[in-house]
Amino acid sequence: MTDVAVIGVQWGDEGKGKIVDWLSARADVVVRFQGGHNAGHTLVIDGKVYKLSLLPSGVVREGRLGVIGSGVVVDPWALLAEIARVEGEGVKVTAESLAIAENATLILPVHSELDAMRETSNSGVKIGTTKRGIGPAYEDRAGRRAIRAVDLLHTESLAAKVENLLVHHNALRRGHGAAEIDADALTEKIVEVAPKIAPFVKPVWKLLDEARRAGKRILFEGAQGVLLDVDHGTYPYVTSSNTVAGQAATGSGLGPRAVGYVLGIVKAYTTRVGEGPFPTELTDAIGEKLGQRGHEFGTVTGRKRRCGWFDAVLVRQSMKIAGVDGVALTKLDVLDGFDELKVCVGYEIDGARYDYLPAGRDAQSAVKPIYEAMEGWKGSTVGARSWADLPAEAVKYVRRVEELIERPVALVSTSPERDDVILMKDPFEN
Ligand code: IMP
Repeated sequence: MTDVAVIGVQWGDEGKGKIVDWLSARADVVVRFQGGHNAGHTLVIDGKVYKLSLLPSGVVREGRLGVIGSGVVVDPWALLAEIARVEGEGVKVTAESLAIAENATLILPVHSELDAMRETSNSGVKIGTTKRGIGPAYEDRAGRRAIRAVDLLHTESLAAKVENLLVHHNALRRGHGAAEIDADALTEKIVEVAPKIAPFVKPVWKLLDEARRAGKRILFEGAQGVLLDVDHGTYPYVTSSNTVAGQAATGSGLGPRAVGYVLGIVKAYTTRVGEGPFPTELTDAIGEKLGQRGHEFGTVTGRKRRCGWFDAVLVRQSMKIAGVDGVALTKLDVLDGFDELKVCVGYEIDGARYDYLPAGRDAQSAVKPIYEAMEGWKGSTVGARSWADLPAEAVKYVRRVEELIERPVALVSTSPERDDVILMKDPFEN
């Protein structure tokens, strides 16, 4: 038995929710270790649909502990709204079922406002962010002026911290022609929310260490995907955290051996939301068809996702960078009924062939995909629970993907229903 980290291997939206849900049924503790309420995942438990953003999926299951680790940026107001929402759906969120790391950074209204100002400004790079304040909050953490969860337990010294933070933010706001923020008003707002968040704030590293020593099963729940990683993604069109599996250790406060098995979630085709390079993007009728059949609209912002063929070069690269042990292949059914499928097996940039995506922004936007064509299948893969249920061409597609990405497929998900999976290997049993 081992602890498992689940991460997205493309640009997010790979269908992590269903897999995390499936695994969390057998975990005692579920830990978020990066990102914030820019993430969105849908869980279906006993026929009931829950849409979570910041809350770890463990929270909606009785007797489990959900942990928000130090690597997460927490918007207290968004968190309270989400708690109120799930409580309205009959889930009780208590200090026994949710813990927030003392050293997690808070997202304040200044952060979401700055994020939105930058995204709507005519100058600078437009990233296509979720405008949730994720990037500005991480900037403040690195700039050592952030307000953290633990500060909500010591409100007497909050005013000085807020003033220090606003020296920086008000200078930026002047640059954007926005009104300055009043330190007293912001302090008051934080002091008001503090008692509602305080009961959840704990030394999470200690809780996790105790859980591990007690033999509890821990599931690390990643958000976004490797190609949005601030170091390894398609920079600058990335999110502001590390999304690779190594972050599960850093962002929770457990050592590098915390994770025994890394399950990478891979969609059978490719999608991206927001700006940035996308070598296999299809702006034609095929792209439209993939989007419609796959219901490719953002869970958080409702934006239409860009769609394209499976890019084996990028996935192979992400697997290696992120240390993925095995893959859960999702949404195979979206490819049902295509006469021909294409898979990207290499790139051409200025006449030269590449078997990886170089880091330069110019090179990334000049990439031309080299495709291998594969025969599609006529039958349906929806709801398949064994290899025998799949059309022969679908099996061929999965096997070819496996070969190209150089990692084994541990499971194939064949519908949004939790039990519609073909399981080759149980990630917890290692
Ligand atoms: P931010 O994380 O809001 O700063 O957005 C940075 C980039 O990451 C944008 O391209 C977003 O569309 C993308 N992004 C952030 N969160 C998600 C997610 O959960 N799924 C897919 N894309 C995301």
